[in-house]
Amino acid sequence: MSVSKPHPHDSAPLHVTGAARYIDDIPLPANTLHLAFGLAEIAHGRISALDLGAVRSAPGVVMVLEAKDLPGDCDCSPSNHDEPLLSGAHVQYLGQPVFLVVATSHLAARKAARLAKVDYQPRDAILTIEEALAADSRFEDGPRIWERGEAGEAIDTAPHRLEGRIEMGGQEHFYLEGHAAIALPQDGGDMVVHSSTQHPTEVQHKVAHALHLPMSAVRVETRRMGGGFGGKESQGNALAISCAVVARMTGKPVKMRYDRDDDFMITGKRHDFRIDYTVGYDDDGRILGLEFQHFTRCGWAQDLSLPVADRAMLHADNAYWLPHIRIESHRLRTNTQSATAYRGFGGPQGMLGIERVLDHVAHAVGRDPLQVRTANYYAPASDAAPAVQTTPYGQPVQDFILHDLTAKLAAQCNYAERRKAVAEWNAANPLIKRGLALTPVKFGISFTLTHLNQAGALVHVYQDGSVRVNHGGTEMGQGLFQKVAQVAAARFGLPLEAIQITATDTAKVPNTSATAASSGSDLNGMAVKAACDTIRDRIAGFLADQAQCAIAEVQFADGMVSVAGQSMPFAEAAKRAYEGRVSLSSTGFYKTPHVAWDRIAGQGRPFLYFAYGAACSEVVIDTLTGENRILRTDILHDAGASLNPALDIGQVEGGFVQGAGWLTTEELVWDRAGRLRTHAPSTYKIPACSDRPPVFNVSLWDAPNREDTIYRSKAVGEPPFMHGISVLMALSDAIAACGGLYPALNAPATPERILTTLDQVRHV
Ligand code: MTE
Ligand code: MOS
Repeated sequence: MSVSKPHPHDSAPLHVTGAARYIDDIPLPANTLHLAFGLAEIAHGRISALDLGAVRSAPGVVMVLEAKDLPGDCDCSPSNHDEPLLSGAHVQYLGQPVFLVVATSHLAARKAARLAKVDYQPRDAILTIEEALAADSRFEDGPRIWERGEAGEAIDTAPHRLEGRIEMGGQEHFYLEGHAAIALPQDGGDMVVHSSTQHPTEVQHKVAHALHLPMSAVRVETRRMGGGFGGKESQGNALAISCAVVARMTGKPVKMRYDRDDDFMITGKRHDFRIDYTVGYDDDGRILGLEFQHFTRCGWAQDLSLPVADRAMLHADNAYWLPHIRIESHRLRTNTQSATAYRGFGGPQGMLGIERVLDHVAHAVGRDPLQVRTANYYAPASDAAPAVQTTPYGQPVQDFILHDLTAKLAAQCNYAERRKAVAEWNAANPLIKRGLALTPVKFGISFTLTHLNQAGALVHVYQDGSVRVNHGGTEMGQGLFQKVAQVAAARFGLPLEAIQITATDTAKVPNTSATAASSGSDLNGMAVKAACDTIRDRIAGFLADQAQCAIAEVQFADGMVSVAGQSMPFAEAAKRAYEGRVSLSSTGFYKTPHVAWDRIAGQGRPFLYFAYGAACSEVVIDTLTGENRILRTDILHDAGASLNPALDIGQVEGGFVQGAGWLTTEELVWDRAGRLRTHAPSTYKIPACSDRPPVFNVSLWDAPNREDTIYRSKAVGEPPFMHGISVLMALSDAIAACGGLYPALNAPATPERILTTLDQVRHV
């Protein structure tokens, strides 16, 4: 069967030969117009004078639009209707689009955009978490608070307590393909939009709104993205709306793509967080009471910040039973890019908070952090002890496999021996220190906004037996299309080559959710399965009727259909069914069962299940320079009964490296004026191939999902990102070898931060 096989990515040959078509590769009609934004140069204030004369008279410029020239409301927000396409007089961050240049070429538009003369009346900008707190600048009226038990009392009565803080930076998505869109005007004002988006339905919705059209008059198509990582859930709206509005005004095709620097300056990134904690614990390091304060820097607009901050709270427990816990979450508004979805969607930040607490407690009680971690794990549910523990938000943890998984990984990677070897190395080497850490991941799978947990599909079988699969998910490199094609092939008993993968298209499958929350294959795999089964059952019913046999006697396998023992090629069966006037096309639909969630109360079952894993990383630091490397990483990751082990291992490797990058080299620096200073690969360092651990062992925990997901697989897109936490903890472990104090290492742990932390632990 085609599922569970390690098929390579369907576009792999196209990717590596450069033949895969992205938006920028789509051939354009000769009269296509090109767009570029003129960007605000201050972080906060008013525009007192806007002189666009030189822009308008620049070569190739066709038109220049300010906010007042836009036809009505061109809002880009996915949530709160607080993101005007162009700023108007009120500037809210440095890099905000102020005007839109329409020109005959991409370069002409970009050059002209630089020629504006703008007078500003700057006002104080709120840039940092501290400034936002001081000004009480926030989304929602006050902090969101979820709690269980009596955290304060449990801390007060615990044998020990400690307090601490961790600060973690944001992260640029650095998708290899920048944002891009094309709008093609159609008959009667209808619009076709090609968009590099994880959420074609949202682009359709926002374009329809801007053009005063019903959604049915707008068709959005997305074949693939060169990476999205959450950065293309909402941030592509501005380009698509701009193209559509100008296409409507001019009647011409319109294209826009961001140059890399503009992409950095305009679009939102991962939320940076500060997490303060107070913890009460016993002599063994068992946590008795815990209070978290999450401070989330959201930027100028709401975007997806509320659900991101929610998911951080939902992962404040990670793998640990916390009987008494209080989490307070502050969603702070600042004059910076509007922070947005990024792989893990707040989960990594929340999880890093509790991992820091465990590490800190282990240091305080003088035990191996792994021992303290497992001592705090949720109890495994067994037939003998079916009463399961619940998360702080009341969801039973029914499938807790981390005891076994952690033990297996620790054995596989020789954790205990290497712990000793690291200690010996550190005793013998005064300058070069090593560190080791093994950290777990428990990540909740489902959209926390319950109604998003649905998906549709449209499958056609043609009379020659070929199959075309359409669904609402988008392909961004993660391998979703291949996995879903594998499902379709398995349902029809066909070889994978018989399944044609097609672009995502809002005219084929409507009302889709973003491909996000790692739910792509869970949702679309099930929807496609339903559509395939409908067609298969129709064919089977027809053939059984003809052969006067029971439907159960019709079998689909190995490209053949057997009817009461007689075999014919699938193509022959399709042809006969067509000639018998049987419909060979069907929609399919799926909605995730069992999920129910009250986000205000912080109670319910937001997730269908959890995905698990653990990672062990060993690092080395130079204590004179702060330079560091990962020496080795071992990961054991739970993808359920994997739909495709090759793609899943790719997701685990890529997720880990991206997570490690977030916590080590990737640093976003805004200056005091609110200008992002790290807006190109010259200053913003994503991991290179050479930053992979030289020893990198990744394997899958191959056991079926206890929930009834597609072929009992588990979602795999985001959870492995959080294996990167093992690297930060290993760096902290290496620093701990240099002094008595707990190394409260902040992220990203750049060489500078490692040196600063070394200074702190040494100067007691
Ligand atoms: N893998 C690649 N190669 N490129 C991406 O953009 N995005 C990640 C993850 N893996 C991403 C990726 C994110 S943020 C999510 S939510 C999931 O893939 C989305 O796809 P899925 O739901 O099909 O796993
Ligand atoms: Mo992923 S952050 O849910 O797009």
